[in-house]
Amino acid sequence: MKIEKVVGYQVLDSRGRPTVAAAITLSDGTTHTARVPSGASTGKHEAKELRDGDSPTANKFYAGKSVNQAVTNINNLIAPTLLDKQISLPDVDTQLVDLDPSDDHAKLGANATLAVSLAAAIADAHSQNKSLVRLFNGDGDLEIPMPMVNILSGGAHAGRTLDIQDVLVVPNGAISFTEALSWIVAIREAAAKMGAADGKVTHLIADEGGLGIPFESVAAACEFVVKVIESVGLNPSTDVSIALDIASTQFFDGANYNLKTEGKSLPSADFVQYISKLINNQPILSIEDPFAEDDWSAWQQFMQVAPKRLQVLGDDLLTTNLNRLNKAIAENSANAILIKANQNGLVTSTLNVLKQARANNFNTVVSARSGETEDSWLADLATGWRAGQIKVGSTHGSERTAKWNRLLELEATEESSFANPFN
Ligand code: PGA
Ligand code: ZN
Repeated sequence: MKIEKVVGYQVLDSRGRPTVAAAITLSDGTTHTARVPSGASTGKHEAKELRDGDSPTANKFYAGKSVNQAVTNINNLIAPTLLDKQISLPDVDTQLVDLDPSDDHAKLGANATLAVSLAAAIADAHSQNKSLVRLFNGDGDLEIPMPMVNILSGGAHAGRTLDIQDVLVVPNGAISFTEALSWIVAIREAAAKMGAADGKVTHLIADEGGLGIPFESVAAACEFVVKVIESVGLNPSTDVSIALDIASTQFFDGANYNLKTEGKSLPSADFVQYISKLINNQPILSIEDPFAEDDWSAWQQFMQVAPKRLQVLGDDLLTTNLNRLNKAIAENSANAILIKANQNGLVTSTLNVLKQARANNFNTVVSARSGETEDSWLADLATGWRAGQIKVGSTHGSERTAKWNRLLELEATEESSFANPFN
């Protein structure tokens, strides 16, 4: 099947900010669309998301955030090179690399390249008469990923009601995705109720749907979530564990980690101690970005003392970038990687990062961004790539439930098992 038309255009994400969509029309008359997400606590080493800023192409009502240049790049630079070619995801990605060989896709914009790459994946699957998940998985049973879900939010997503970005839960004792999700919904509802009973503010829903409840310390926030887990009749650790996204780059000033709510300013070595203590005192099975994106030595120090069972997850540290992953493997800086397609800019090279991680015994967590769309391709990627884990935010907001509901659909309609990397 041939590519007949490629169109880029601007749409809105879940925060009401512009983002890029691409639509590919094939010779059978069908059109396949993908929309790209966007982060807020964006790592410095991520691929370049093109925004108009104060350039003449900007729409001033979008406060510098319009994406007209990225859209123009799709329509004027990318589309002409793809027309009349056979639809094939690898070929489209090769073409995108030819047009912009830079590592960070700065010329075309990673939001432009990813929109086209994703639309190509969806169109390619259609041309082979497959669903997107089957394009990557092939025949045989699917493996539905273990979810990691936001309960409390702070940091850049919730007005810094808590210094760290998220307290999440992982339903590591659930036997199916369907069961896992029901536990999480109960926990999310109970957290809102218990927060209200404590006199804390619970009406603030953060960017990813978590509750922006203020706490005096990270430990207090964890203790609250433990109480919530118990309140719905589940066991902390054996049924449901805590995962933290520290997003520490956000409060590292180059010398110290500044925890405002705790009144602490800690140099790296002391912050390694702080994190170790937290891990030892709470039922935490995964910790993301405990140290800043370029504080490599703190990561290494922590890996020496961290319990073997702990998932030490790099997001801003690794930015779905093969070179940074290889450095982390060589230096033993982490043992898991967050996989965000828009940090990378292409579907095939994102998959290559995931494969390299897996080949080196890293856990892989396919992740949404804080600015999301109604698309559900993330669920198909996570399942088709057998990532083992998926992180989407909370259970609130249609941009989040689109992914959860797609996973429920896959579990209901296909032969599958439920991944458990923590067994
Ligand atoms: P972001 O947050 O999309 O704003 O980067 C998600 C995360 O840090 O995992
Ligand atoms: Zn993160």
